[in-house]
Order: sequence, then C-alpha cells, then structure tokens
Amino acid sequence: MSKETLQAVRGMNDILPEEAELWLWFEEVVRDWLHGYGYRNIRMPLVEPTALFKRAIGEVTDIVEKEMYSFEDSLNGDHLTLRPEGTASCVRAVLQHNLLYNAPQRLYYSGQMFRHERPQKGRYRQFHQVGVEALGFGGPDIDAEQIIMCARLWRKLGLRDVTLQLNTLGDSASRQRHRDKLIAYFEQHKEVLDADATRRLHSNPLRILDSKNPAMQDIIAGAPKLMDELEEDAIKHFEELQAILKRHDIAFEINPRLVRGLDYYNRTVFEWVTTRLGAQGTICAGGRYDGLVEQIGGKPAPAMGFAMGVERLLALVQEDGMIAPKPEVDVYVVHQGELAGQMASSVAEQLRDEKLRVLLHCGGGSFKSQMKKADGSGARIALVIGDDEAQANEVSIKPMQGGDQVRVSVQNLIATINQIIK
Ligand code: HAM
Repeated sequence: MSKETLQAVRGMNDILPEEAELWLWFEEVVRDWLHGYGYRNIRMPLVEPTALFKRAIGEVTDIVEKEMYSFEDSLNGDHLTLRPEGTASCVRAVLQHNLLYNAPQRLYYSGQMFRHERPQKGRYRQFHQVGVEALGFGGPDIDAEQIIMCARLWRKLGLRDVTLQLNTLGDSASRQRHRDKLIAYFEQHKEVLDADATRRLHSNPLRILDSKNPAMQDIIAGAPKLMDELEEDAIKHFEELQAILKRHDIAFEINPRLVRGLDYYNRTVFEWVTTRLGAQGTICAGGRYDGLVEQIGGKPAPAMGFAMGVERLLALVQEDGMIAPKPEVDVYVVHQGELAGQMASSVAEQLRDEKLRVLLHCGGGSFKSQMKKADGSGARIALVIGDDEAQANEVSIKPMQGGDQVRVSVQNLIATINQIIK
C-alpha cells in the first residue's frame, strides 16, 4: 500500500539549492554591510515565554491577538511561543546578560520568525528577518545612521524603486493626550466604525487610523492629529533626523498615518516600501522604542532598530534579474577499480587540505559516464585514476577546457594542478 506523501506546513517554505545560492550570497553581503557599521551578531532562541511577546508587542495587536504560535509545554506546563519577531527576544537577552552595563550595544540577528497569517505572495507563516538593534542610544544621529545604512544596502543589492516613509509618534504623554482625543472623536462617529474598530476603540484607537475600510476613510482623515500634540523635544528630534537625512541625500516622505503594528514604538518610525511586490510591499521597517527596556524589567534605556523581510527583499532582487553564482568546483575525481577507489578518496582529501573544491565520484559506472558527470559539474580539472594509475601511484590530469591529459606522480599532483588552475 503506498503511503500518503507528507507536505510542509502551509506558509512555511523549503528553500531549494538553486534558490539557497541566492540566500548565501545575500547573507554574505549583509554580514559585510553590518560589520561596516560596527554591528555585532547575537543569536536568541526561536522559542520564548509567551508573556515576553504579550508585554513587548502589546496585548491588543494583530500579532498577539491572532498570529502567535503559542502552546503549553506538556512536560512542565510552561506557556511558550515561536518568536513572531526579534526585538523582544533581543532586549530580553541583553537584559538577562547585563550587556548594557558598560556601553551601548549595536546588535544584529537573523533567522526564522513565525506568524499565523493568511499566506500569500510575500506573506508567510515562517519567514526570515535580518534585525538590527541599537540599545542605549537616544539621539537622532543613530536613527539617521540606521536609515542611511539601509539605503547603502539597497544600493549594494541593486534595488530600484524603494522609497522611505517616515513619521514620528512622539512620547508617551503626547500619545496619551492624542489617544484620549481619538477616543472622544471616534465615539462621536460610532455609527461609521466597523467591528474591528469598535473593538479597538478603547484598547488601541491608534490602530483604527490604519484601517483600510473605504467606508471609514473620511472620518479617519478628519481625526485629531498626533502632530498637533507633540512636545518640543520630540519635534526637535524629528527635525534633526530629517536634516541629517537631507545632508545625505536620502529622499523620504512624511506619512502621518504610519503607526506600525507593534506597541513598543515612540518618536521615529519608518518603513521602506516598493510598489513592485503587490500588496506586501514593505521590505524593511522599524523605529525607536525608548520604553521597551524598562518595560521588560531593565533600567530605562533608549533604543532604535529595524528588521527587513528576507523573502520580500530577495523577491525584489530577483525581479531585477539577479542570479547568484553557483558554487564552483575545481576538481572532479573519476576512478574505477578497488585500489583506484581507495586512492581516489585519499587524493581528494589531500586536495581539500590545499583548499581546492573537490567532487569525488560516488556510485561507480564506466569511465565514459563518469567523465560526463565531470563535464556537467563545471570542474576545471578531472583526475582519472584506473588500476593502471593506482598500481604506479600516479594520477592522470585532464583539463576540462581543452589541453592535453598528463600523467603525474601523486607527489607532483598538487603542483601540477596549481599550474593548470592559475
Ligand atoms: P515588522 O514590521 O513586524 O517589524 O516586520 C519587519 C519586516 O518583516 C516587514 O517589513 C516585512 O518585510 C517582514 N515580514 C513581516 N511579516 C512577514 C510575513 N508574514 N511574511 C514575510 N515577511 C514578513 C518587526 O518585526 C520589528 N521587530 C522591527 C523592529 C526591529 N523594530 C525595532 N527593531
């Protein structure tokens, strides 16, 4: 009886070798770029206590209300969640290990995140982020640095048509005032609110501004503006950030409706967007979160960060026709006979000691069929070892791009290969 073929979980993708080459290339570019700005790598677990995300992201957010993979560990009853984002875990790790004790920290992480969303192009249930967090920095200079560094990465990746949306959310007092005014305003227009907005009216009225419901756009447009409540310090911070960006020729659009879907933000928020990926056009997003460190139990410390969606970025890279180079093979080792087989595997090991990239033929077959494989591998050289060669402790070298086959002793092998390759 044939068994049913098992499939991956919906919205969680395999990355097959052809595509993985693009990922490897991307990861290298990203690492160089981050190191160029002094960011250091940090790696956190994929699973955290559920309470961490509730506290950091906010109880009344889409992520916490309906997108988290949460479960009870049946072995000990702990409430756990697959991380939906990295900022909360990063701050938790920094506090747990006291990293802010001596100096501010510039940190980055990358890896899988999990959100139970409805899968579509650019929106997955398992996706990858590269996240960047600067903890202990309060000024607009670090906000600007992070935005400038994004622009550099887009240039490195050859991305076109990516634009920057910018906003400020002010500080907690102004946000509270704005929130009170919003509730009062929307209460006057209750009859226009949809079910989502009504539910959020008292818990998270700011999110109503984010609604795409066409029937609510008029009252949203007339809602009290946070800009009118901002304190002088927050305005100054925002103006200084804009001045630095202008000095660096970074174009931006101020979007007063940009509020973000996580509760920890204050002051600067930004998103890099493209119109070339359909509905899921935000490739990178972040902002300042000066209250989060204290909220997670640390001494107050300002912070600023962002994360980019790797699937979306790579989709854009591919739109522009980028194909990552295949990993190269230097030598393909062809062999036949028992003694030849033993010699082939030890010669292959010696070549790898010399940093050569070697494919040792496995699975037998005629010399002819093995040479076909050597040809298809793209190797620059094939080594041929038959019983004859093995008896004499010699190897035949065949340059794959033309040239005569030569036979050399094992002692002279590496020197001869180097001559051919260089
Ligand atoms: P976020 O806006 O939720 O922010 O996610 C950042 C980016 O991750 C998005 O702009 C998008 O490119 C990608 N992304 C999010 N959800 C999905 C999904 N379901 N499928 C594919 N890609 C997705 C954060 O996560 C914050 N932690 C960013 C941050 C860091 N703020 C401060 N520091």
